[in-house]
Amino acid sequence: MSWELLLGLCALLLLVVQLLRFLRADGDLTLMWAEWQGRRPEWELTDMVVWVTGASSGIGEELAYQLSKLGVSLVLSARRVDELERVKRKCLENGNLKGKDILVLPLDLTNTSSHEVATKAVLQEFGKIDILVNNGGRSQRSLFVDTSLDVYKELIDLNYLGTVSLTKCVLPHMIERKQGKIVTVNSLMGILSVSLASGYCASKHALRGFFNGLRSELGAYPGITISNICPGPVQSNIVKNALTEEVMKSVGNDGDQSYKMATSRCVRLMLISMANDLKEVWISDHPFLLLAYLGQYMPTLTWWLSSKLGKRRIENFRSGMDADFSYFKPLKKKHD
Ligand SMILES: NC(=O)c1ccc[n+]([C@@H]2O[C@H](COP(=O)([O-])OP(=O)(O)OC[C@H]3O[C@@H](n4cnc5c(N)ncnc54)[C@H](OP(=O)(O)O)[C@@H]3O)[C@@H](O)[C@H]2O)c1
Ligand SMILES: *[C@@H]1O[C@H](CO)[C@@H](O)[C@H](O)[C@H]1NC(C)=O
Repeated sequence: MSWELLLGLCALLLLVVQLLRFLRADGDLTLMWAEWQGRRPEWELTDMVVWVTGASSGIGEELAYQLSKLGVSLVLSARRVDELERVKRKCLENGNLKGKDILVLPLDLTNTSSHEVATKAVLQEFGKIDILVNNGGRSQRSLFVDTSLDVYKELIDLNYLGTVSLTKCVLPHMIERKQGKIVTVNSLMGILSVSLASGYCASKHALRGFFNGLRSELGAYPGITISNICPGPVQSNIVKNALTEEVMKSVGNDGDQSYKMATSRCVRLMLISMANDLKEVWISDHPFLLLAYLGQYMPTLTWWLSSKLGKRRIENFRSGMDADFSYFKPLKKKHD
């Protein structure tokens, strides 16, 4: 066999292997590689002080449970202190932590004047902050033409400015120590956009732009990692809590969530990203993951597809179903 033929066969084999990896993936291929060959959260994240916002529900709550098994010190923040206390109790029941290892710290991300005091409280309690997980946030289910401007302001104040503000309080401390991780739960909607969530998509695009810019300003601090986590649909209360046409009116029900990724799987992949200092990860089942990849290589085709899906989402929404429910249900698989 000539060496050209051998080379050709190897290239083909590589392509087939990559394709198979992609079809089985529920995250981008770098993340899948890190899960297989990378550092384990169980080795890397112990003894750290981790501050999680939005820890009273959904992804943040599950993150608290999985982190509490790794032996970290935890700071749990959100607005509802009773829910945070519930999460703390469950962490203590199932994890390896003692009461003094968990600080419940009520925080409203939109009240930026309280962020400095909150940061001081964490430093006073634990002496350092190794990881800030910017997770708190709300989504949107409403058409732009029907939605008040106040909803757009609220989404920017909460998802974008609230996160920027807290980061501004914590970063000087990390710069002083020349180390730390700022992990932000963004979304695939920080990369692509869909109907019924234009304000949410804008806030998540803004966050991604901000953190990518910040990262490039921190070149002199290789010990500080800026990480954007972009999940697709994940089981949580996000739809229930989503803003609608008016600020004071949220969706109020979850709809069918069975087609979404299990919260525990999403959080496990987040921990793997943190342990391996990945700068941006996509955590999602197909076809959302496929769309994210397509969007990078074939933007015009992807926007054509998105507008088809967008129409369907709006029809679902109007008939009272979760926006994505009907067309992706048959593709549901593995991991939950
Ligand atoms: N689930 C998904 O499909 C999905 C996909 C991509 C990205 N994400 C992102 O994941 C993050 C977590 O959402 P989730 O899915 O876990 O939804 P969730 O179950 O609704 O949890 C949202 C959390 O944010 C907190 N929060 C809301 N408003 C806040 C405020 N003003 N100040 C402080 N905390 C506030 C809530 O706590 P309080 O109400 O107690 O304040 C709650 O703990 C969000 O950033 C979301 O955009 C979710
Ligand atoms: C914002 O936080 C400050 C400082 O903690 C507090 O005094 C004030 O009452 C809060 N404002 C609102 C609107 O909750």
